[in-house]
Amino acid sequence: MNVITTVAEMVAARDRLPRLLGLVPTMGYLHEGHMTLVRQARADCRSVVASIFVNPTQFGPHEDFASYPRDMERDLAMLRNEGVDVVFAPTVEEMYPPGFSTYVNVERITEALEGARRPGHFRGVATIVTKLFTIVRPDKSYFGQKDGQQVAVIKRMTADLALGTEIVVAPTLREPDGLAMSSRNVYLTPAERAAAPMLYRALCRAREMYRGGVRDAKALRDEMMRMISAEPLARVEYISVADAETLQEATTVERPVMVSLAVRFGRATLIDNIIIGGME
Ligand code: PAF
Repeated sequence: MNVITTVAEMVAARDRLPRLLGLVPTMGYLHEGHMTLVRQARADCRSVVASIFVNPTQFGPHEDFASYPRDMERDLAMLRNEGVDVVFAPTVEEMYPPGFSTYVNVERITEALEGARRPGHFRGVATIVTKLFTIVRPDKSYFGQKDGQQVAVIKRMTADLALGTEIVVAPTLREPDGLAMSSRNVYLTPAERAAAPMLYRALCRAREMYRGGVRDAKALRDEMMRMISAEPLARVEYISVADAETLQEATTVERPVMVSLAVRFGRATLIDNIIIGGME
């Protein structure tokens, strides 16, 4: 496995790698959710590049950029074990050299949910993902459904700018009790960790109501709010039932919707989502 830290070396390497080429962008501190993406890429493509880069521009000024969990040695061992060909792990200065002033801004679908809670977040994500696509030129790029709005934004941006890579989305990987895997789960205290699976229980309850014939989006939101408000350690940041493509809040569930929520537990805000209303 080749570990590359400069853009110039990555550009040279990508031209030598056999096609199809798959890219798995990550911020490191890898878990089984990332490994699912890597294995999917390995199964689909002849070459696999994984990137590890904690991207400062997608963190707000009061967010956890400095303390975001990092473990490069462990990450490299995990990627080596899955047969990844190249790890691209640039420094911040390499990706954002002095004078850097060009950003990618995806309009409308970035305004609600995580975009409202974290101003500037998707500008940072769209910029770095566009830059990774430009440097690596992957045929296929792999993202997890756990970050549902990120997936919608990246699909929109890739189509709008004809970035020429296929976006492959892998289902959310969960702990046995339903908690979605996330690098930020390490922030939870034992009591918060014990309460956290309620996010997925609330999402499953919405799905159950939908399957039972409920089509009123407000009824789904109200029931999830009722469930989560009963937990003293949880503070709801948003609960949403929105069109899966445009992320506009829905009034009825007549086509695929993303049911999503963000809930604060102490230091960590956990997000999760499911899609309902499509082919189930
Ligand atoms: O999902 C992530 O880990 C990040 O947002 C991504 C896509 C690697 C961009 O920094």
